[in-house]
Amino acid sequence: MKQIIVNARLLTFAGPLAPRSGAQMGRVGAVREGAVLFEGETILSAGPRDAVKTHPAARMAREIDAGGRLLLPGFVDCHTHPVFAEARLKDFDLRSRGKSYPEIAREGGGILSSVRGVRGSTERALAQGLLARARDFLAAGTTLIEAKSGYGLDLESELKMLRAIRHARAGSPLEMVPTFLGAHALPPEYAGKAGDFVAFLCAEVLPSVAKDGLAQGVDAFVERGYFSPGEAETFLAAGRKAGLCVRVHAEQLSRSGGALLAARLKAESADHLDFAEKADLLALREAGTLAVLAPGSNHFLGLEKFPDARRIIDAGVPLALATDFNPGTCPCWNMQEIVSIAVYRMRMTAEEALTAATVNGAYALGLGKTHGTLEGGRQADLVLFDCADHRELAYWFGANLVKAVWKKGKLVHGTP
Ligand code: NIG
Ligand code: FE
Repeated sequence: MKQIIVNARLLTFAGPLAPRSGAQMGRVGAVREGAVLFEGETILSAGPRDAVKTHPAARMAREIDAGGRLLLPGFVDCHTHPVFAEARLKDFDLRSRGKSYPEIAREGGGILSSVRGVRGSTERALAQGLLARARDFLAAGTTLIEAKSGYGLDLESELKMLRAIRHARAGSPLEMVPTFLGAHALPPEYAGKAGDFVAFLCAEVLPSVAKDGLAQGVDAFVERGYFSPGEAETFLAAGRKAGLCVRVHAEQLSRSGGALLAARLKAESADHLDFAEKADLLALREAGTLAVLAPGSNHFLGLEKFPDARRIIDAGVPLALATDFNPGTCPCWNMQEIVSIAVYRMRMTAEEALTAATVNGAYALGLGKTHGTLEGGRQADLVLFDCADHRELAYWFGANLVKAVWKKGKLVHGTP
């Protein structure tokens, strides 16, 4: 079926076939009298209405009137940990009483409490939880996410998490790119033995993950008390050798060497970067590694310090935004909220933040040629918002302005 959305204000993000950096991040391809023509899963034409209407398919298309509202490509959330058994309300409560994230982790909360939950859950229960969450992501305008494992940390539980993602992918229109976050924390049975745990990941877990095609990437948390750059490198290099892409939780709580490691491995993304310094940014730019910022976690943890988005943009490193949705540091699945926080707390412009939340997120996942913009040939992942000006997405913080969502050309949420 051919469909045409007319009377829409568009941000197309049309531009070079590459992640956007520097001043390019402010160029959103705004169109006041816009239209998007699509057939099946694919956009045929998008841009000024009069130009789109000249397409031969436009005459036969079912017309949808957007009523002057804002239409964007679906948000791409390129860093999430959406598979877990339960919320971490105890950690949350302790933090409200003044304990820090590292203190709570040392006292048995943190990542390891989610590991206990996942180890005690069935694959089916984890998949059901993720399916429910997938509806929340779509309802907030996100049509593509990355989804990490990393709360299992033994062979069976990591495979269980990745299979739960595979099940949920088959049962939801939300597109999910799975990542094997093997080196997330040291499980209790390997306490004090990071080298042995990494050897176990490489010898026992990674081959099963790769053989069954359960993940498209690997990820490691480089941080004091978690994994050193050397330990992470052993795991990530093995993942690269198995044909997977590489992501790094880098410089999140301290400057620990994750960004330089990401650059050395030509990682697809280096994520967080709160404590990144100039040398880190230059290395990332040289390597072609995207910076993924997750300011929702700073907000939720009540931190004063945020990643220095301005310095990253000025250094010419393409920047993507993500929720980092997880039960410990950011229980928020709404990219509109992340765009707000990016504007309020990291002094990004609304245009830069929206570029980071769409086209650059798609490039962080290696899908920049098919996702993240409104252009002929791209996948028809579209979100209609109940506002006319894109700056409102950042302005009305805490709101969900989504009116309708199309995934691969099909209406999957709301009504236009
Ligand atoms: O991205 N830094 C490591 N991983 C997550 C936190 C996970 C958790 O606390 O459960 C993050 O913030
Ligand atoms: Fe994370």
